Amino acid sequence: MTIGVFMAEKQVRVGLAGFGTIGCGVAKLILEEAESIAAKTGLRLELGCVVDTDTESARPVKLPKSILTNDINRLLNDDTIQIGVELIGGTDAAKDVQLKMLDAGKDVVTANKALLAEHGNELYEAAHRNGRCIAFEGSCGGGIPIISAIRTGLVANNITAMYGIVNGTCNYILSEMTSKGEGFSEALAQAQNKGYAEADPTLDINGGDSAHKLAILASIAFGYEITLEDIFVEGIESVSKADIRYGGEMGYILKLLAIGQKDKEGKVSLCVYPSFIAKDNPLARVNGPFNAISIFGSAVGQVMYYGRGAGMMPTASAVVADIIDAALGNSVTTFRHLHLKPRSETELLIEKIGNCVSRFYIKVLAKNQPGVVAKYSKVLGDHDISISGALQHEGAGPNNTVPVVIITHSVQQKNMTAALVELAELDVLSGRPVCIRIVDIPEDKD
Ligand code: HSE
Repeated sequence: MTIGVFMAEKQVRVGLAGFGTIGCGVAKLILEEAESIAAKTGLRLELGCVVDTDTESARPVKLPKSILTNDINRLLNDDTIQIGVELIGGTDAAKDVQLKMLDAGKDVVTANKALLAEHGNELYEAAHRNGRCIAFEGSCGGGIPIISAIRTGLVANNITAMYGIVNGTCNYILSEMTSKGEGFSEALAQAQNKGYAEADPTLDINGGDSAHKLAILASIAFGYEITLEDIFVEGIESVSKADIRYGGEMGYILKLLAIGQKDKEGKVSLCVYPSFIAKDNPLARVNGPFNAISIFGSAVGQVMYYGRGAGMMPTASAVVADIIDAALGNSVTTFRHLHLKPRSETELLIEKIGNCVSRFYIKVLAKNQPGVVAKYSKVLGDHDISISGALQHEGAGPNNTVPVVIITHSVQQKNMTAALVELAELDVLSGRPVCIRIVDIPEDKD
């Protein structure tokens, strides 16, 4: 039985700016899947041109003759190209190209999270002015259709929280350090070789990439114009194997989490930091380059989206889905209904990190002598910090010191910050204390 109405195929010409890893994936998908996409959607995707400053290097995809060019005007001035795909990356040239694509009357598809996080509001305005859209599914969560889930599938919900593992590189590094005891640099080099990391991996490991994604996801989930300055960010650069191991002994797994929470008054807290989470939480089992985002909605409860968050083909999957959605005319409609609370109102609704409450993992290197526990406990007590657990193995290390791990009850960040300053000054402790937040992700249980 055949269901449906026969419609003539519609040709959709796509201009691709940026022929790097993701660009190659997108070209490959369009070239190899044109037939099946046409069968499913009635749209025949065709690459009009591919623009890159490097037209010489070998790529893992073979383009039809003469469509590779270093002249962006070929894309901009070609009126048969309806959709411009910006995969240049970075913020300067990419922004210029997106604005020019919109001014030339093209819909824009992009995976450029840095650009949207930094200049999204200006670009969205340009799209609205031109009656066009910007589709950005590939910007967050690689192949996971998380933007579409928030914008359409969950639209009936008041979203109150999201907890995301949104950087594949960091998740790969932390997973390797946890499961194989590998060193940080070794694991980072592997993530780079596998094509998960950004051109400059600093943005991955310092939490910047996760913050870009959180800015985008939180904007659409909470309906606020969010900027990067609203997000408190710590990366994984100084995470050690020892802390991962001690946390493990206490029942926790370390993940770099992007967290957005909204309270009853509409106040939002936005953070990216290494987080110890309970070993039995589903996010704890997300390993390697995989991403996952757990969302709490007023009607749906908890939903979790999981998949490959980085790499050529997963991200290309999201980009090509956007191309199809734009060509069908769906994106322009959803985009028109993207209503964000303006900056003037949002600013007042961002919670300061000092007021945020969390439990903490603290590690100090203590002198193995009488009276030491009393001294560091007093500092914590003086700042209203209550200890809920502690770990000290027998035996001492260099200079008769011993690592002590303390788990606290919930306390405001500002109390902990003040206590850490005092702990660092105690003569019975060596070096600076290590401080990692413990994130208690709520459980949606019957
Ligand atoms: N460098 C990013 C990551 C790629 O590791 O997740 C996907 O945005």
